[in-house]
Amino acid sequence: MRKTLIIMPLLLLGISAAAQPKLGKADIDKVIAAMSVEEKINLVVGSGGNKSAAASATVGDFGALVPGAAGQTNAIPRLGIPATTLADGPAGLRIDPTRTGTKRTFYCTHFPVEMLMSATWNTALMEQVGAAIGYETLHYGADVLLAPATNITRNPLCGRNFEYLSEDPLLAGKMCAAEIRGLQSNGIGVSVKHFALNNQETNRTGNDARVSERAMEEIYLKPFEIAIKEGKPWTVMSSYNRINGTMASESKWLLEDRLRRDWGFDGLVMSDWYGGTDPVAMLKAGNDLLMPGNKKQVKALNKALENGTLTIKDLDHNVRRILEYILRTPAFNGYKADNEPDLEAHAAVTRAAATEGMVLLKNTMTLPLNGCKAAVFGRTSYSFIAGGTGSGDVHHAYVVDLIQGLQNAGFTIDADLEKAYRTYIKKKDKGSPKGLKAFFPIELIPEMPLDDVDLLALADANDVAVITIGKTSGEFEDRSITSNYNLTDDEISMITKVCGAFHSAGKKVIVILNVCGVVDTISWIESPDAVLCAWLPGQEGGNSVADILTGKANPSGRLPMTWPRRYKDVPSAEDFPDPDKISRFKSMKSMSSFVGINSKPGRTKNFDYTEYTDDIFVGYRYYTTNDVKVSFPFGYGLSYTTFEYSDPMLRGGSVFVTVRNTGAAAGKEVVQVYATPEKAGRPARELIGFAKTNLLQQGESQTIEIPLYEYKSGMSLIIARNAADPEPIKVNDYSLFR
Ligand code: BGC
Repeated sequence: MRKTLIIMPLLLLGISAAAQPKLGKADIDKVIAAMSVEEKINLVVGSGGNKSAAASATVGDFGALVPGAAGQTNAIPRLGIPATTLADGPAGLRIDPTRTGTKRTFYCTHFPVEMLMSATWNTALMEQVGAAIGYETLHYGADVLLAPATNITRNPLCGRNFEYLSEDPLLAGKMCAAEIRGLQSNGIGVSVKHFALNNQETNRTGNDARVSERAMEEIYLKPFEIAIKEGKPWTVMSSYNRINGTMASESKWLLEDRLRRDWGFDGLVMSDWYGGTDPVAMLKAGNDLLMPGNKKQVKALNKALENGTLTIKDLDHNVRRILEYILRTPAFNGYKADNEPDLEAHAAVTRAAATEGMVLLKNTMTLPLNGCKAAVFGRTSYSFIAGGTGSGDVHHAYVVDLIQGLQNAGFTIDADLEKAYRTYIKKKDKGSPKGLKAFFPIELIPEMPLDDVDLLALADANDVAVITIGKTSGEFEDRSITSNYNLTDDEISMITKVCGAFHSAGKKVIVILNVCGVVDTISWIESPDAVLCAWLPGQEGGNSVADILTGKANPSGRLPMTWPRRYKDVPSAEDFPDPDKISRFKSMKSMSSFVGINSKPGRTKNFDYTEYTDDIFVGYRYYTTNDVKVSFPFGYGLSYTTFEYSDPMLRGGSVFVTVRNTGAAAGKEVVQVYATPEKAGRPARELIGFAKTNLLQQGESQTIEIPLYEYKSGMSLIIARNAADPEPIKVNDYSLFR
């Protein structure tokens, strides 16, 4: 088929292949001029459609060169234009782990999800993880990684929050830029996604985000702006949703005016998979590449060229950007994938990174502990969740669960309890979902009832109890309040019963949250003695948790979003879908827009449209301004040591401060600088800079520079331990006083 497409125009033109201008050798204008209309259309429409997507729980799975990759661009060999491969995703390269005809495997490292990486507040570490993912991308033969994702975590129910970075645009933007730099240092490209305002999964391809210009500029576009300017990504992925009535992928204002003209982006924009409804409008708006590509789009473009609604000149704009992208790719530059990334070295990278992003939420004289006898509860302890579902998932070779992690660290696991759990899990586990269900987030089995377990005997026989609570989510669906955001009755009952028995024996209980995002804590957090949020920590998760429990690593993660007291306190609670009230299949209706069915905006609030009434008061901007109490504020996280700040100084657009480790363990501190505008209509606190110290030994100090973002003279600044810190240090006053 492809052969015919290539040979036909040649014959028609009556020219020999040898005389053709070749990409990279001839001037790009000459290459474009030599292209037939068919070839141009085949370049802007991806090569999709050659494989069924259902098996891989994601809509993208069209890589022919690299099996399991999300998509490919078409080759035009006569002009020296190779096919290029685009693969997911944010937590590691997503490709098929096995291939027909070979016994060899193609597993990739499952790194921590972006949410955890953001909780490190460590841009250098983010860059290092990005470099490792990029290395696997290159060595497995892909040209572009479809990541990072940097939509604002506006509401804790968004099913893809784990793939995103923060509720704060500065943290999200800086971490995103760092990841881009790391990834692209390998000579592969990234696609920053989903541009923009893809903040809910419910009806994601039809939903209209109705938002003020101010909220867009200050909150929702800001992380992208920072990422574009500081990370210089090769490509950007437009989002599925509408913005104030226009599909993001069809918005010239978004893709040309803001992205290209105002921020200087010089790369290509591709659609999200099957995104957009009108291919002509998309190309004209600056959405150059239609992914994964289908015949309907080819037909529509041909028709538009015939009737003049699309001109060759329009099309050439898009073609040029795609050719400029191809020129940079490993595929064009003759790179031959060896399929041999250093997975062992990367296992060490993911273990250390995961450890650094875990957040210690509570610790009443419990942690760190030495390896001892542990009774381990919770189904997830025996099957740790490495990452979320959908395109953000990675085909890993293994996952270190909590049991393994604790054993590796010298703990003795209660064998009878372990046996009871393994038997229960085997009985309940229905295996991996198939067909349509494979597209949706996995439903975990209920917790094992503890009625038949002698908890008092377990408390007697063990030194400590460890409970894991697991929650996962993924694209296509937002999180249920009752079963995903709130802990279920069986989970709470497990915590209560275990705490009752172990406390009566004078033993401590530790809860590990192996979760895809914010969960309710108010209903149970009084009971356990320590709580560690481990997020979805990648394939070495069990080892990373054990490193923290034993004190081998000192927790230095800080929350990249607020944990409210109750879901109803969330500023967008009323203006966000309630997934418990929407059937899966209604939510799935949006999938029909794959083929452009859902093209007319409907009238159902929070489904067809969502009003961003919270405006710029997202996350801590709302809670701090309105004095709303929260469970854990943005920027919060405990350590095994203490830090003292001294001599804050503002100089040349940066704050300098000396941080001293005054406690008994080596550790890292996250320094957070907030602006505290006093003007009405502005949030009480806004993060304006942050930095992480080196690992400081006991008594050691470091004077650290915190570059400020968009600092204006006269701003009043504070250094705070988190967004709700009641005793921050004033920067301006102090330096004036000195
Ligand atoms: C997701 C994208 C992903 C694409 C390709 C879509 O469903 O929204 O994030 O890159 O599939 O797999």
